[in-house]
Amino acid sequence: MKRVDDFRLRLGDKQLVPIMVGGMGVDISTAELALEAARLGGIGHISDAMVPDVSDRRFDTSYVKDKTKLYKFNIANADKTVIQFDLGLLAEATHLHVGKTMEAKRGDGMIFVNCMEKLTMNGPRETLRTRLVAALDAGIDGITLSAGLHLGSFALMEDHPRFRDAQLGIIVSSVRALQIFLKKNARLNRLPDFIIVEGPLAGGHLGFGMDWKEFDLQTIMNEVQAYLKKEQLHIPVIAAGGIFTGSDAVSFLENGASGVQVATRFTVTEECGLPAKVKQEYFKAGEDDIEVNGISPTGYPMRMLKNTPALGAGVRPNCESYGYLLDGAGNCAYITAYNREVAAHPNDRTVVVKDKTCLCTHMRNFNCWTCGQFTYRLKDTTNRLPDGSYQILTAEHVFHDYQFSVDHKIALPAMPEILTA
Ligand SMILES: Cc1cc2nc3c(=O)[nH]c(=O)nc-3n(C[C@H](O)[C@H](O)[C@H](O)COP(=O)(O)O)c2cc1C
Repeated sequence: MKRVDDFRLRLGDKQLVPIMVGGMGVDISTAELALEAARLGGIGHISDAMVPDVSDRRFDTSYVKDKTKLYKFNIANADKTVIQFDLGLLAEATHLHVGKTMEAKRGDGMIFVNCMEKLTMNGPRETLRTRLVAALDAGIDGITLSAGLHLGSFALMEDHPRFRDAQLGIIVSSVRALQIFLKKNARLNRLPDFIIVEGPLAGGHLGFGMDWKEFDLQTIMNEVQAYLKKEQLHIPVIAAGGIFTGSDAVSFLENGASGVQVATRFTVTEECGLPAKVKQEYFKAGEDDIEVNGISPTGYPMRMLKNTPALGAGVRPNCESYGYLLDGAGNCAYITAYNREVAAHPNDRTVVVKDKTCLCTHMRNFNCWTCGQFTYRLKDTTNRLPDGSYQILTAEHVFHDYQFSVDHKIALPAMPEILTA
């Protein structure tokens, strides 16, 4: 019976354990988590979502406070066109986050940054270019392009000296998205180094409509692999979304995947950035406590726990401090929804917005509890402690469980010493 450790993922000159820990913004996949994956011989992701805020927390910088001060005059204004990201400061924050993470890297694995196109930051092209170039400058091993078709993203990096050396890949949820990406980039003569196929059971934003249940990861994997074969393109394909055990991973690896990307099982590890209380919410969740809804202003469906505080919250848009989803013309679907509710209930003290959420504010405060479909199985991966809470795992434990387990077994962690003494 095979286990994940019987396979290797070849990227560049490396032979890696074929496990990628997926990017989870905003700082849910922390540097510490990514560093563990790399130390253990796999691939870890940090995320550059809201990187100035992440830098403030990690390095005590004051990017967010300074931006708030600069645009304070606009807080009561419904028009957010004036709010712009300073590209120099954005590059600086990216350098700090990426550079310090790479300095701390140990072991044979790699660290990539997850870069979402949907973070349009009121200047889609220039801010994306700045983020990509700064990550390459700061020595990142690779970039995973996500949440968008990224038709122009390779071109934004083409003049960079590391454009042909760094590992560059893209997340797609259909063969069609991949075909469009490859066609659009044909003139650059630079193929992606890896393709992640993310199915409908993943956490975060989904590359499907509300009909996500109609789709199946293995079927999309087969379509992508058949297309690459027909075109004689040799690009590693990595499966993601709902891979919960080592045996789930092996079944994809035996069917032609070069690796797997996993995330949900790492949300309840010490190294994950979610607050301890939120990790317990993930453990406690039952199958009926998880939904896919349309509250993200990006327009993509998102999976989350139903008791997510962000649901129905009507906070004033915080674009002066954040503004990561402003579309380039000062618009965000949450601002529209918020203004509509304020106009409809002029005398109410509390604003309730049901159809959209202020994703920047709630992701920043860990109040948007996005998760994979199998979050309800997390409770089976650990011990229940005498006080009723669930024992937090280490990233190493979860990584090794994926790497070495057989027969769909899940290894429980050793009980804390204080309970076994
Ligand atoms: C809490 C959470 C946050 C996520 N955030 C992002 C993100 O910021 N960008 C992204 O491309 N994918 C994101 N994802 C998707 C993961 O990177 C990964 O591809 C997917 O969740 C794998 O499926 P699994 O969670 O069932 O293992 C997120 C997933 C989770 C669970």
